[in-house]
Amino acid sequence: MTSHTLNELIAEGVRGRYILVRSDLNVPLDGSTVTDDGRIKASLPVIEKLSDAGARVLVTAHLGRPKGSPEAKYSLKPAVARLAELAPFKVQLADDTVGGSAKELAASLGDGDVLVLENVRFDARETSKDDAERGAFADELVALTGDNGAFVDDAFGAVHRKHASVYDIATKLPSYQGDLVHTEVEVLRKLTTDTQRPYVVVLGGSKVSDKLAVIDNLLGKADTILVGGGMLFTFLAAVGHKVAGSLLEADQIPVVQDYLKRASDAGTAFVIPTDVVVASRFAADAEHEVVAADAIEDSSFGASGIGLDIGPVSAAAFAEQIKAAKTVFWNGPMGVFEFEAFSGGTRAIAQALTETPAFTVVGGGDSAAAVRTLGFADSQFGHISTGGGASLEYLEGKDLPGLSVLDR
Ligand code: 3PG
Repeated sequence: MTSHTLNELIAEGVRGRYILVRSDLNVPLDGSTVTDDGRIKASLPVIEKLSDAGARVLVTAHLGRPKGSPEAKYSLKPAVARLAELAPFKVQLADDTVGGSAKELAASLGDGDVLVLENVRFDARETSKDDAERGAFADELVALTGDNGAFVDDAFGAVHRKHASVYDIATKLPSYQGDLVHTEVEVLRKLTTDTQRPYVVVLGGSKVSDKLAVIDNLLGKADTILVGGGMLFTFLAAVGHKVAGSLLEADQIPVVQDYLKRASDAGTAFVIPTDVVVASRFAADAEHEVVAADAIEDSSFGASGIGLDIGPVSAAAFAEQIKAAKTVFWNGPMGVFEFEAFSGGTRAIAQALTETPAFTVVGGGDSAAAVRTLGFADSQFGHISTGGGASLEYLEGKDLPGLSVLDR
């Protein structure tokens, strides 16, 4: 099964046609400032390609998780302002998604013009569990495209969502895979099929419960899983260490113990940090010290100390593993990288990824923001995925509705 590509659509001819593009413009904001524009930059080429070919481009996107009605803080305004700065063409934003503003502005588009519709999640039908409700919303989006429209899904970060603008729309219009989705899938395929070994996976982030399914699917596939971030404390607890006031998902301890047991039979080695940075409190200027991972409660902060980063010995050991690998996938920061004092582990991993001869993939969301915040350039990595949840679900081996609906 294959999907039709954007190049096929362009070859069919798009001049004067309304082409609906689903992009992932879900970027982190500080007030109205975009703090990481990676997804906007990644979305630009497909919109530009269609505009250059004379299409009237209607872009749909979400931002955050509004509750199904308009909320100013979830407006696409800041994202679209940044898109307009980067784009060599004029970009407009409608005040609504399928209402009067969207209809009027869509009707006034000329060939090559680009209109972004306001946050699709301002309409509760976008994310509804009811097929008929989502279908009705998709019909209203289709109506904006006239009688010769087409749909391009370029929102890799949202392909795991069975939402109207991702899934249902593709059942109603001739549909094509955008170049970004295509590239992302090709890269992730290299992590699941004929993967070059050693294959090292670096997992961080706060919650182990978010990573369980991917860990399960990686047992036997990855040679080594390096564990950092807040989730490492549940691993330490699972091997019998006390973690003082650090983040702990006590209910996941038995699950982690089961993984540790199954891993050795499956041929996958878990590497858990041997030292951690413990702080007196969660703050950028908190007092802190490095302690052995089995002696967290012996730090000066006693039972109230909280682990906020992996220690330097562990970071160096992780870096060695990464440098000896042929394939590396990294998802989730090693510590609270936003605070300089606790960014050492994440920085060491990012640095090692830039120095290894391995094929390296940085998996979305926080990790992508981390490498950029720490001053690394996208070009220093094999691939920085725009998908957080989507890339994890792909590696979990799940069916992704936004991808399978494009197959025919
Ligand atoms: C993401 O940020 O991973 C995507 O944009 C999807 O967002 P969601 O998790 O709110 O569906």
